[in-house]
Amino acid sequence: GAAVEADISGLKPGEKMTVAWRGKPVWIVRRTPEELAGLSKNDPELADPKSERHQDEFTPVYARNEWRSIKPEILVLVGICTHLGCSPSDRFTPGPQPSLPEDWRGGWLCPCHGSTFDLAGRVFKNKPAPDNLEVPPYMFLSDSKLLIG
Ligand code: FES
Repeated sequence: GAAVEADISGLKPGEKMTVAWRGKPVWIVRRTPEELAGLSKNDPELADPKSERHQDEFTPVYARNEWRSIKPEILVLVGICTHLGCSPSDRFTPGPQPSLPEDWRGGWLCPCHGSTFDLAGRVFKNKPAPDNLEVPPYMFLSDSKLLIG
């Protein structure tokens, strides 16, 4: 079928792995407690902090929460920019970085037109991407196994 399994037993806090699903990159990130705590601080800077836009397309029911995920620490996202489909680059390191705000708390930067996303895949204001990154359909088969699709 179209669904793929992902073994996340080797995924350490702060790390990301990528699996292919329907020809798209799907990112799985194990967020640290600090990264989770930083998410709520981003809210005023985000275009759609509660992921209310196009929910049926981008945010499944089980991801309509402050982490956009089933388990707070495990984030699952389609790694394709919602603007014109480039693949955003990891910018996990907090703090000042070229073309990012000084209080950057980690996330992604799209190299094509500069859209930035936080560590829940939520797009920042005044960026061309119209929507937060897509959370694909997924479920946990066990603590260390995910089924995507
Ligand atoms: Fe990502 Fe345009 S494709 S900002």
